[in-house]
Amino acid sequence: MCGIVGAVAARPVAEILLEGLRRLEYRGYDSAGMALIDGKDIHRLRRAGKVSALADALSTEPLRGHTGIAHTRWATHGKPNEVNAHPHMSGEQLAVVHNGIIENYEPIKVQLIEQGYVFTSETDTEVVAHLLDQAIQSGMSLKQAVQNTVSQLEGAFALGVIHKDFPDLLVAARKGSPLVIGVGMGEYFIASDQLALLPVTDRFMFLEDGDIALLTQDQVEVMDKSGQDVQRSISVYEHGISAVDKGEFKHFMLKEIYEQPDVMAQVLEGRIASGHVLEQAFGVDAKRVFDQVKQVQIVACGTSYHAGMVAKYWFEELIGLPCMVEVASEFRYRSVVIREGTLLITLSQSGETADTLAALRDVKSQILASLSICNVPGSSLVRESDLCLMTNAGPEIGVASTKAFTSQLVALLLTCLVIGRRHGLSSEQEKQIVTDLQNLPTLTRAILDLDEPVKAMAEAFAEKHHALFLGRGALYPIALEGALKLKEISYIHAEGYPAGELKHGPLALVDKDMPVVTVAPNNEMLDKLKANLQEVRARGGELFVFAGCEQTLKSEEGMQVIALPACSKLMEPIVYTLPLQLLSYHVAVLKGTDVDQPRNLAKSVTVE
Ligand code: G6P
Repeated sequence: MCGIVGAVAARPVAEILLEGLRRLEYRGYDSAGMALIDGKDIHRLRRAGKVSALADALSTEPLRGHTGIAHTRWATHGKPNEVNAHPHMSGEQLAVVHNGIIENYEPIKVQLIEQGYVFTSETDTEVVAHLLDQAIQSGMSLKQAVQNTVSQLEGAFALGVIHKDFPDLLVAARKGSPLVIGVGMGEYFIASDQLALLPVTDRFMFLEDGDIALLTQDQVEVMDKSGQDVQRSISVYEHGISAVDKGEFKHFMLKEIYEQPDVMAQVLEGRIASGHVLEQAFGVDAKRVFDQVKQVQIVACGTSYHAGMVAKYWFEELIGLPCMVEVASEFRYRSVVIREGTLLITLSQSGETADTLAALRDVKSQILASLSICNVPGSSLVRESDLCLMTNAGPEIGVASTKAFTSQLVALLLTCLVIGRRHGLSSEQEKQIVTDLQNLPTLTRAILDLDEPVKAMAEAFAEKHHALFLGRGALYPIALEGALKLKEISYIHAEGYPAGELKHGPLALVDKDMPVVTVAPNNEMLDKLKANLQEVRARGGELFVFAGCEQTLKSEEGMQVIALPACSKLMEPIVYTLPLQLLSYHVAVLKGTDVDQPRNLAKSVTVE
């Protein structure tokens, strides 16, 4: 989704802004631009396409200045072309960058046109530029103009504003979309996330919803939504800067797949003592909340939703606690019945997904409490939830989520264990599961050693247009996740199905051109699954099976089998995810797609 970077400094800021944009590329975008105050004028440069196109343009037409804003745009209103790229200007006076959606832009645009403003783009953002200009023309200061403008806007937005008459001032505003302030030495920055600013600072101030901030080289003034001056605390970024480099890997996605054994250990770090999960890890109020939980409602989007689907099997099978799971964009717009004692768990890598956040806000007054399982400290979900468990996976840059997913699964299992103690889970059972979790780094390393056979398997997919993924039980969501990974990065149409549903429709599609991927661990569902595999074979379908090592499934004509090391049933969804990630990665590489930034997709979906 759109990315914002801004700076006010004693040194020239164009390079800082450009590097910030490069670091926001992972969010997904289709054009880029920058505007700087050079003396008394604003100079702007925009390009459709990649940040590299903007960088090329800057090398021939450099922008100079100490105060500026920059943007990567993910088109919502209007085509992804140069005219619609940000920053947007009102005349030559001021420039604005925006992330989010202005829902009431149409009536505002009509009014502004009546008053003589000429629109040069199809975007909702341009109304912000003209509203600001109108307010300043009426005699308001830049601060008042931003307050006045923001009060007229409906929707979700983060804004960065510069004005040529205030060359040392950068104004930022946030309502519903993420924006952080980077605190430097005699310089301040704004950005959509911390990663953009790591080359210049590791100290950050998180704005609250409704905040407006005025930044100069020496100070930052923040006003809350009621216009009161407020102090927002500064926190230090905890992950190393190397976390956002590809290192020896060709793609971030591959690096992130390979980080998973270490991430498994990181999720557990500081959360286990004497073989038991420490419930304080969830927050000070955890005991009181967990004592009262009667059911769990999980809400999430995309890959995080699949993690929630796995957790349903765990909550209901392991501890007998009712658990419902729903995609946030549906949950938030229907009349949900919330029963007494409901713990709402929001799952999110970014902590900024608009639908997930809205779902939390909508039911906050009806639930027992909210728990956020999230990867980004200081994100909106974390701040607005009663309890939180950070997944500690480190920055995830590849748009297709990998390590965030498996770390969510581990965090969900920890949650299931602490709540489970109140629902008949014995201390011995908990210790055994904790031991299994502690063995995950070793186990997942062994899975990654299967990279070569998985890569060889990938060749069978490169020319295909469709694929089916099958699984049963807690492996059904893993089949969904495998299909999602393949479609996201290789653009092959892929569907996940519970294997038992095969006869109820998808079998009609099966022929030699439809590869069928199956996750088939050695559990009590295996015989049922084998019967489903026969149904595929009988129709000439080609099978690609990830199987438990002690079983009878072997490669033969029409069926390639890769055997995985044995693991306990609860670990299966985590373990079987990794070969599916590798498979989709290798297929995408063979097809030559943009693995880390697949077309049309965004990493952090901050608009609904
Ligand atoms: C986008 C990303 C997915 C992610 C989903 C939910 O679609 O491309 O990888 O699973 O958003 O994001 P969240 O940050 O809430 O987990």
